[in-house]
Amino acid sequence: MRSVALLTSGGDAPGMNACIRAVTRTSISHGAEVWGINNGFQGMVDQQMEQLTSRSVAGILQRGGSVLGAGRCLEFIDPRVQIRCVDYLRDAGVEGLIVIGGDGSLRGVHSLNVLGFSVIGVPGSIDNDVPGTDNSIGADTAINTAVEAIDRLRDTASAHHRAMIVEVMGRHSGYIAHMAAIASGAEMVIVPEHPIELQAVFDEMEAMQQHGKRHFIIVLAEGAKWRAAELTQLINDADNPYDARYTVLGYIQRGGSPSALDRTMATQMGVVAVDALLAGKSNVLVAMQDGMVVPIDLSTFSANETKRDQRLKEVFSVTST
Ligand code: F6P
Repeated sequence: MRSVALLTSGGDAPGMNACIRAVTRTSISHGAEVWGINNGFQGMVDQQMEQLTSRSVAGILQRGGSVLGAGRCLEFIDPRVQIRCVDYLRDAGVEGLIVIGGDGSLRGVHSLNVLGFSVIGVPGSIDNDVPGTDNSIGADTAINTAVEAIDRLRDTASAHHRAMIVEVMGRHSGYIAHMAAIASGAEMVIVPEHPIELQAVFDEMEAMQQHGKRHFIIVLAEGAKWRAAELTQLINDADNPYDARYTVLGYIQRGGSPSALDRTMATQMGVVAVDALLAGKSNVLVAMQDGMVVPIDLSTFSANETKRDQRLKEVFSVTST
């Protein structure tokens, strides 16, 4: 394979640049040229790509965001648009594509494979909701950002004897919330995977008050049944021992310099993605499984998420009191 293209799709995630750098340098070291497609699948539709060199990806390892630009592209769902995109890549001499993105983006990878174009997916999303991989680029940094914020919020909650609801991102996944709650020692976590009743929140507050806790931190996943403002209102409207306030962390979780873990994992994933493509493979997901970065069949999505969420729930329940 002499020419490879890559794009970053969906929400940006810290560590995507480390992966872009690794893909570029690994391809070049194997004698292949590399094209960076701008702004996710939209750049393929709009035919916007630029050649990447070892020097053009210098100094990006530690930077958040994506130097290629990211985004979601509804137009790409249309099979006629997909055919046009494949024709565009072929006409430009590109023989394989690497897509760094989340759950939705990797579905785009599969459809290009169906059209006979060689594609490899790399999980890049702070949500860590890509089935088949234990981790995705950006999740660790987002969790660290959330933990740092919660540590600060606990200080003020404690001083005022308050409940603090901290809403974190994750779309339909409670992964960031669960990990951040464990790492920050929060009193409660509310995630979409394990719905709870309002009365259970009130009962836990009462119990923590009896325990002598000066604060009550709830880490709330954005996909849970209440949003932060609504839950805060419900708590304050009822007779509860803590006065509640809320903070929505939002997009700060997507930005910032990637953690060492995200940098190293993204680099390994980039190398494995190129190796797979140059070995003639397609429809591959580069996955982290049991501490190893491995290429797996993109269509064999596993059920390990449910087990993982259950394990996190158990860890949380024994450490939160
Ligand atoms: O998928 C990453 C993510 O940050 C989710 O956690 C969040 O729900 C969503 O993207 C926000 O998307 P947008 O950038 O389109 O507002």
